[in-house]
Amino acid sequence: EKGSYRHFMEKEVHEQPESTQRTLTAYLDPVTGGVRADIKAGVDFSTVSRLQIIACGTAYYAGSIARYAFEKLAGLPVDVEVASEFRYRSPAMMPGVLAVAVSQSGETADTLAALRWCQSQGLKTAAVVNVHTSTMAREADLLWPTHAGPEIGVASTKAFTAQLSALLSLAVTAAAQRGRINAAEEGRLAQVLLGAPGLIAEALGMDGDIVRITNDLSKARDVIYLGRGETYPLALEGALKLKEISYIHAEGYAAGELKHGPIALIDENTPVVVIAPDDELFEKTASNVQEVAARGGRVIMITNAPQKVPTLSGDAAKSLKVIQAPDCDPFIAALVYSVPIQLLAYHTAVHKGTDVDQPRNLAKSVTVE
Ligand code: F6R
Repeated sequence: EKGSYRHFMEKEVHEQPESTQRTLTAYLDPVTGGVRADIKAGVDFSTVSRLQIIACGTAYYAGSIARYAFEKLAGLPVDVEVASEFRYRSPAMMPGVLAVAVSQSGETADTLAALRWCQSQGLKTAAVVNVHTSTMAREADLLWPTHAGPEIGVASTKAFTAQLSALLSLAVTAAAQRGRINAAEEGRLAQVLLGAPGLIAEALGMDGDIVRITNDLSKARDVIYLGRGETYPLALEGALKLKEISYIHAEGYAAGELKHGPIALIDENTPVVVIAPDDELFEKTASNVQEVAARGGRVIMITNAPQKVPTLSGDAAKSLKVIQAPDCDPFIAALVYSVPIQLLAYHTAVHKGTDVDQPRNLAKSVTVE
């Protein structure tokens, strides 16, 4: 039931404080302030040589974001690949690889085939799935459930942030088991994660500011999304979300790649959405904003540091839109900034009048290749 919401997608976006909370507390213990004992008992990341994350679409972007945390915090090498490529590539695997399928439905044909291929190679497998009775949940050696609840909207929203919640909690687990962090740091990171649902609730308050820019955005033919670090895969996810439900062509790029080609696309008709949390890469992203503005690009900057946004002159200053996000630890920035990205796509689609919950040509679960 949609209740007072216009679409299931809107309802599901607004459910995220609860759905992330449910997922996080399945992995983290709010009382003892660390990773739950049963999660630690189920896996030993100190014996894992590499993670091979396999997924499709939005789940692939969740895996791509998690990679930064596993590598940075736990020193665990990670490969992330779309399942439809991985499964036909004859990838060279080494001993000790843990294959992790990430899937809302647990039924996606390519992801399932990739998981089965890994098993046939004798690799240990895990599945991060939202449908706990699904084929992947049954077949993987290890089940890491997400607790988003049923997702009706075809465009994935709360399943994505639940995947991030589970994967970031597992990255803390890996860091602890690999001796990269002590108990105090494990507790601190767990508290940071457990604070995410509150910040997601705060981020939902960006709704009004976002609605105000979507009139403009809905007229665009092409939109570019930029991010750096963990917000680079989030930029790809933002572009996918906009394409799926508003049918506006959108591409995400690593902000640093701009000058290697995509900057040729910049003109006054191409809005550029910049996802820029105040982290150690902020200044670099800010300089990309100046490059875009200098070429007449219309920048929409999503940041918690509006005071640090570079001063632009002339038309660039007039067209710059800054949308203020809540302050958060960089560890959970991708989780919190998922919300404005989803709202931007949602309100643009509503403005265009497309069928938000059932976009053309798309199915909720892709069980054919
Ligand atoms: C995008 C979307 C799809 C799915 C993809 C994988 O909004 O929903 O890209 O993420 O089809 O589906 P699951 O997670 O069920 O394997």
